[in-house]
Amino acid sequence: MTGTDRFKYQAAQYAVNYLDSGMIVGLGHGSTALEAVKLIARKMSEGSLRAILCVPASSEVEKTAKELGLPLTNLNQYPALDVTIDGADEVTPELNLIKGGGGALLREKILARASSREMIIADESKLSEVLGTKHPVPVEVISFAWRYQVAFLERLGAEVKMRLTVERAPFTTDQGHMILDCNFGPITDPVQLAGKLNEQAGIVEHGLFINLADDLIIAGEKGIRHLRRRDF
Ligand code: A5P
Repeated sequence: MTGTDRFKYQAAQYAVNYLDSGMIVGLGHGSTALEAVKLIARKMSEGSLRAILCVPASSEVEKTAKELGLPLTNLNQYPALDVTIDGADEVTPELNLIKGGGGALLREKILARASSREMIIADESKLSEVLGTKHPVPVEVISFAWRYQVAFLERLGAEVKMRLTVERAPFTTDQGHMILDCNFGPITDPVQLAGKLNEQAGIVEHGLFINLADDLIIAGEKGIRHLRRRDF
């Protein structure tokens, strides 16, 4: 196990310890969130967690969760989740995030908004002082007008790349949309940028998660840092 893998596991283990039996739990997408999914499955099989119901953030996580025997539900049956444990691509000490590196940003943002508590787990390589310095902002757009969105995003100052699969075809999300990865450079006013992206017709969602995380758990060489927006 590399250091980074160990940190991902440690952050996941720390977060999963906050779960209680009977909770409705959102499952995030990505390799760090996967560690949490595996730990939840292990605790359920050991009996230390019971009657958990899970809502996966992507078809990929759904498949894995099913293979691990986790009981699944959805937001139509349970529109309010107790907690979601998810990863991130870039995090700041103010608990703002860039997400969507795995392409699941739309469902991830819905889960975050539907959850009483959004717990973000990350290894220390994700930590940054200013969003946009480590990862581009994924922007999910409808294919109908993607070139129009590229022009809009360029006017906002982004260098835009359409996300492609390994076969060099356009990547499509679980909802069948495209992703434009936008390098804005350091984002000094993420609230303002998020507002502009929110207003644009045809942009389905973007990866700026501002004021959405309640807990940020970062594992690294010096141990675990737990940053909180509020007390629970
Ligand atoms: C998924 O769409 C993203 O928001 C993930 O949370 C992100 O890509 C983190 O992935 P890793 O945990 O694999 O770095």
